Amino acid sequence: MRHSISVVYLIVSGAIFIAACASQDPRDPGIEYAPQMYHSIPLEPYSQIDYHQYTPDGKHLLSPVQGTVARKKISYFYPFPNTNEGYEEAGKKLTNPLPKTPENVAEGKRLYELYCIHCHGEKGDGQGSIVQAGKFPPPPSYYGVQLRDLPEGKMFHSITYGKNLMGSHASQLSPEERWKVIMYVQELRKAGLAQQEGAQVSNPDGYNKKSLQKK
Ligand code: HEC
Repeated sequence: MRHSISVVYLIVSGAIFIAACASQDPRDPGIEYAPQMYHSIPLEPYSQIDYHQYTPDGKHLLSPVQGTVARKKISYFYPFPNTNEGYEEAGKKLTNPLPKTPENVAEGKRLYELYCIHCHGEKGDGQGSIVQAGKFPPPPSYYGVQLRDLPEGKMFHSITYGKNLMGSHASQLSPEERWKVIMYVQELRKAGLAQQEGAQVSNPDGYNKKSLQKK
């Protein structure tokens, strides 16, 4: 007798088990026991079973209004559009908000060596490793004619949106990090310009003249 009860029990519980899993929809939880126990009746902002009628889009958690900036993320708000006009305007209006401290420049160098050096080169002359390997055309030198007067606002704009062959670095670098990297780019440019001037002062012509005079 006890034996047949347990067989019936097994069959019934097996049937319930199979019925509970029978749905084809992988998101269907099947038969739920007392669902009110774990599906909250009050509206929970981060969990939702069904659409409801209280908000326009039927969501518990209202979407933020367009243009909303998250707390402490105000630096991510960038007013200049990805157009030529936006680029020009950024060049005129945008300046580095961070102080030029040795720590900031050092962090800029660290980031440059992570994200930029393989294209722009150790000295910023556009001779990075992938350029030397012949895989990528050389970017312009930071201290060449094209970029030596480039304002920092335009640099920020180009790093944020990318420019031609250079991709956007907005997802790799926070706005603060972009400004730090720009400080280091400016240091490279200063060093490159100083070296160019030095090269002009000790120009090989003068040396040749002297050596000619000696003869
Ligand atoms: C895949 C190679 C590549 C990487 C990586 C790269 N750049 Fe560039 N960069 C270029 C090229 C190519 C140009 C020239 C774009 C043009 O004017 O057509 C350029 C242009 C620039 C300019 C001049 C932009 C302007 O407005 O004329 C700056 C400044 C610059 N890069 C900084 C950086 C910094 C900082 C990083 C790292 C965060 C970086 N680049 C990473 C290839 C690269």
